Amino acid sequence: MKIKLKPIIILALGMAALSFSFIQTWQHYDLEIPRIWTTKALKDWELPNANPAFTVEPVSEEFYYALPERVIYKTYPVYHPDYEPEGYWEWLHEQDAQIVFDPAQLKTEADWIKAGELLFDYPIDTLGAVISAKHVRSKEFYTASGMPITPDGIMPFVQWVVAGKGKVYLGNLSCAMCHTRVMPDGSTIKGAQGNWSGDKAFAYGLESNGASEGDVQAITRFLFSSPWAAGDPHGKLLASGKEEIIAAYKAVPEGAFGRQGTSILYPPQAPNLIGVKDRKYLDHGGLSQHRSIEDMMRYIAMNQSLDFLNFYGDYNPIGLTKQELNNGKPIIFPGTYDRHSEAQLLAIAKYVYSLTPPENPNKPSALSEKGKIIFAEQGCVTCHTPPLFTNNKLTPADGFAIPDAHYSKYNIFDISVGTDPGYTMNTRRGTGYYKVPSLLGLWYRGPFLHDASLAKLEDLFDSARLKDDYVPTGFKPHNVKTKAVPGHEFGIDLTKADKGALIAYLLTL
Ligand code: HEC
Ligand code: HEC
Repeated sequence: MKIKLKPIIILALGMAALSFSFIQTWQHYDLEIPRIWTTKALKDWELPNANPAFTVEPVSEEFYYALPERVIYKTYPVYHPDYEPEGYWEWLHEQDAQIVFDPAQLKTEADWIKAGELLFDYPIDTLGAVISAKHVRSKEFYTASGMPITPDGIMPFVQWVVAGKGKVYLGNLSCAMCHTRVMPDGSTIKGAQGNWSGDKAFAYGLESNGASEGDVQAITRFLFSSPWAAGDPHGKLLASGKEEIIAAYKAVPEGAFGRQGTSILYPPQAPNLIGVKDRKYLDHGGLSQHRSIEDMMRYIAMNQSLDFLNFYGDYNPIGLTKQELNNGKPIIFPGTYDRHSEAQLLAIAKYVYSLTPPENPNKPSALSEKGKIIFAEQGCVTCHTPPLFTNNKLTPADGFAIPDAHYSKYNIFDISVGTDPGYTMNTRRGTGYYKVPSLLGLWYRGPFLHDASLAKLEDLFDSARLKDDYVPTGFKPHNVKTKAVPGHEFGIDLTKADKGALIAYLLTL
């Protein structure tokens, strides 16, 4: 871990002054580039926390625009040591920095999308926030973390950033890191439910760097603590000691990721970004409304680590007080000290909107046609309504009482499907709801449900999962051997043949 674990980290205010000159640079474009971080727009963009006293309070407009803009350098692939071309490492160190994002060059929609892809692949952290340079160049890292690589031996989740001759950094936390799927044949699908073994790699980093108990506690607190949650589950985790905490990271399966503000106790399934343009709420709890491309830009701005600077009541994840934050003392914490320009955010959003699914190898058949009828008969269509296969509504989790004011503000379907309420009741991103997910592209996704607890679609329709002696096939908390995966019992009582037909249909979507 290269992260400095003693927080509050000081940075020259001069950088902030610099940023104002950048802001001017894109203003001559024909394309209208919205100003997204305004007090007005932020006011009702996000839903309240499940416990409304701890609702997100993001950094102010003034603070946001004082942050310097990101400079985007050319990046280079990272190879597994057995595949690295001879002399590659030395060659990298001879390269000059190349700045690759220049909005002046973007003349067409296609140019913007292409630039957006480049930004999607661009790591925002070069401090070794998750994986370090030393690790990716050692074979042991790959065996210990189970990190997938492509047939060319490329590890597609991180990149080398060249910031000047001899300044070669391992870049972490690109969008592609968590939103790329390596398929069983080694091909990759960008934007699909990511499946890098992120939390296992993180655990490996903590162990192999000899992180102290205090360090492991601190980083875990920054990432996940939500001390207001009933019973303070994260406080209990922190108190359980280094080995237990590391075991909790290791328990997160590929296809889920303990993103900041969520939890390794209730890890969110990595969402499929293909088709996200049509979704009305973002994150499993629907925390962020998605009413326009500006909302998507805000989402990207917020979740590239800016959320470490949020307040939840008086609580700030990295231990800041409101006074410290607003005293004009910017913070160096991976990704929080700079921001994407609005042109950059727009390009990323356009790229994400442009993602299309790979060709589905599962063609409609007599069996899937039978499944289509069952899908309608079982009432799946009420919530997973074609053509999006979601009604874009929020369903309350067990234990959440919907405030009256929400009915007119949000799109609510007032039925709990009874799945595990932990993520949405106990995390910083929790709203008390789970959104109805789209079923498009199920064939290249998994594990399933918001907590990635079920590896296969078959498991969703297996009644054995409702009993306490069940061994979840996907995420299973580190400290239990067996556990029921409750809720969403739709279709669970069908005959074996009907389940087969239903699944055949689901795989064609
Ligand atoms: C460290 C891993 C990680 C990185 C880096 C990351 N994401 Fe995500 N992303 C996630 C996870 C996990 C979720 C689900 C969060 C939740 O539901 O609480 C998510 C959710 C989303 C969503 C909401 C989708 C939906 O349907 O709810 C969007 C959009 C998104 N990410 C886009 C991006 C973009 C664009 C970038 C880069 C600018 C990015 N992400 C970087 C892990 C990551
Ligand atoms: C009352 C609304 C509702 C009905 C009816 C419903 N679902 Fe769902 N479905 C949901 C919600 C909400 C989730 C997400 C729950 C969670 O993750 O905790 C979900 C999740 C799923 C998932 C997992 C998707 C993923 O991304 O992990 C599948 C598959 C699914 N439903 C299929 C079906 C099928 C098939 C039927 C009919 C037999 C059905 N659903 C009926 C609301 C519904």
